[in-house]
Amino acid sequence: MKCLNQLYEGKAKKVFCTDDPEVYLVRYKDDATAGNGAKKGTIRGKGAINNLVTNHLMKMLETKGIPTHFIEQLSDRETLVKKVEIIPLEVIVRNVAAGSLAKRLGMEEGTKLSHTVLEYCYKDDALGDPMVNEYHIAALGAATPDELQQIADYSFKINEILTEYLKEVNIELIDFKLEFGRDSNGKVILADEISPDTCRFWDTRTHAHLDKDLFRRDLGGEEEAYQEVKKRILGE
Ligand code: TMP
Repeated sequence: MKCLNQLYEGKAKKVFCTDDPEVYLVRYKDDATAGNGAKKGTIRGKGAINNLVTNHLMKMLETKGIPTHFIEQLSDRETLVKKVEIIPLEVIVRNVAAGSLAKRLGMEEGTKLSHTVLEYCYKDDALGDPMVNEYHIAALGAATPDELQQIADYSFKINEILTEYLKEVNIELIDFKLEFGRDSNGKVILADEISPDTCRFWDTRTHAHLDKDLFRRDLGGEEEAYQEVKKRILGE
């Protein structure tokens, strides 16, 4: 792996090019931010945990027909992924009212939603990732109608698969955020990560937070919670 020019540094990950133009290397960091960068800190061990949890879940999703960018885990913090052009949308799937939805709609956090809710946010830090609908997405040219249909279909299927999978380890999947990209053939595939940074995981029995809300809300115990998620999902 000779060419390791850094292409991009995000809030939680760095992306490097490799010798293969179709392959990128992702390196996960322990840095944590909340409120679009307003709060900054570190969650010790987070980078490795998010890498291992993401790869485990992406491999599992691949076996159930979801195409992902995952290629190969190189180390605790580093993974080879397929080069994609990221579609500039955060796709949020919600099963239970929490976070910004609970606030926006005046629902008590923890209320089961009678229908799964899908939301899109336009990825633009300067604008604070505003929520958008299908019409905005078309007007922005962020994704074609066919791509958006594919993204919605995959997102609902991923929700079903993950909800069932996590129930087995006593984790309730409250909501989560996905990102998709176009591969070199223009096919839509799952990219980014699936981790306690990007999902709300509640303990099924106690409803304890096992995710980044512990950091976002200054509740404490985030290092232990991330370790617990890793232990339950990877079984080690
Ligand atoms: P929200 O309730 O703050 O809108 O978050 C919904 C879900 O999406 C939650 O599981 C956290 C995740 N999320 C991210 O991963 N990145 C983000 O920038 C935002 C706003 C939410």
